[in-house]
Amino acid sequence: MKPVKIGIIGLGTVGCGTLTVLQRNSQEISRRAGRAIEIAMCAVKNIDKKRDPIANTVKLTNNPNQILESSDIDIVVELIGGIEPAYDYVTHALRNGKHVVTANKELLAVRGKDLFQIAQDQSVVIAFEAAVGGGISIIKAIREGLAGNRIQSLIGIINGTSNYILTGMKENQCSFNDMLEESQKLGYAEADPTFDIAGIDAVHKLIILASIAFGVPLQKISDVNRIGIESITYDDIAYANELGFSVKPLAIAKRSQSGIEIRVHPALISNQRLLANVNGVMNAILVTGDAAGRTLYYGAGAGAEPTASAVVADLVDVVRVMTSDPENRVPHLAFQPNSISSLPVLSVNEISTANYLRMTVENQAGVLAEVTKILGDHEISIESILQKGTGSHEDVLPVVIITQETVESRMLRAIEQLESLDSVKGTITRIRIEDLN
Ligand SMILES: NC(=O)c1ccc[n+]([C@@H]2O[C@H](COP(=O)([O-])OP(=O)(O)OC[C@H]3O[C@@H](n4cnc5c(N)ncnc54)[C@H](OP(=O)(O)O)[C@@H]3O)[C@@H](O)[C@H]2O)c1
Repeated sequence: MKPVKIGIIGLGTVGCGTLTVLQRNSQEISRRAGRAIEIAMCAVKNIDKKRDPIANTVKLTNNPNQILESSDIDIVVELIGGIEPAYDYVTHALRNGKHVVTANKELLAVRGKDLFQIAQDQSVVIAFEAAVGGGISIIKAIREGLAGNRIQSLIGIINGTSNYILTGMKENQCSFNDMLEESQKLGYAEADPTFDIAGIDAVHKLIILASIAFGVPLQKISDVNRIGIESITYDDIAYANELGFSVKPLAIAKRSQSGIEIRVHPALISNQRLLANVNGVMNAILVTGDAAGRTLYYGAGAGAEPTASAVVADLVDVVRVMTSDPENRVPHLAFQPNSISSLPVLSVNEISTANYLRMTVENQAGVLAEVTKILGDHEISIESILQKGTGSHEDVLPVVIITQETVESRMLRAIEQLESLDSVKGTITRIRIEDLN
């Protein structure tokens, strides 16, 4: 059979990784796909830029239209990132009847609804395994491997940069800023790290995962409760550890009778759980289905070749799809487009979690009684209390309280009342505890 011709837009980290993997494993890949995959052309922004020598092996252009308009090219691989001009290029490719492979989670989370509709109208495919979890095949695992399950929850560490920072703070006993600087030096964090540390990147990925897990539409970014990791201190990590927990950057989607919870925030998880031991830049996603039970997917969530592994897997899938009946393809978002459910996203005030509270209090008799009374008044039960510093010469002392599970709105009201006490100094740090039982 004739080779399938592809065009790649974007030859940065993932683009060059994709060329490397396609070339190194070309034999294996064509044996799996049934046809060879030939790179017809690659588009970049700045053609004169010095780049990985692998880029010298392909035809380069700085005009993506040469790919989008070429009648020879069947599949366009979008690896530039961001919304514009990626959205323009992808819609252009789809409208010209080309299949698209993309690693762009932001584009799918924000404009996926339109893009999947255009793809469906044109009977072409958008494949996006590389958009979540890098080398971990989490999209296929949920969409195909767990297709027999009613999925109840997915809880994951899906942003390697924030996991690297929190792991490093614990291991090196250092501050958030020290670890952020180190991750920027090592290239794990961008010069502007906001997307990673504020949880925005994880929100994009979680929106995609929740849709394919529960058969709901891609949710609005503003509907996802999001807290970044910037306010976590080394003290919080040390106290949590003393109490048997690790602080991890979690992305959580859960189904209940009344709707779905969808949130991204740092959380304490028991050190006995596997997820608590997912360290450095590694990613892991724990999926609970009613039939399979718990399954855990672990691996490199980013990087040139791990991400390229997912891009190439998608290329192989698309090549196989090109020979199959368009009516019987795996649906983009796992569920048939006419069976998407309208489960509401629950307000964060309705969710229940246990909580870690760290506060600075006056070193005086009766203060702890005042604090515990307020928690009691709000029907919040205490699991444990850790009071640090014992010297009577100290004016203030840190106190850490682990609460039992309580409804968010009640917890927030109690924190407000606690912060208004004269004996509680400054603001209270609150981190949710995620119970993985
Ligand atoms: N890096 C990772 O580990 C990773 C992991 C998972 C997913 N992703 C996703 O993969 C995508 C690519 O990421 P990356 O890290 O490879 O990015 P990158 O290293 O910054 O590379 C981006 C590439 O896109 C090209 N480009 C930018 N604007 C363009 C335009 N208007 N027309 C043509 N080419 C354009 C750039 O050209 P020049 O080279 O000429 O500047 C560059 O080659 C993003 O969606 C990202 O979120 C990345």
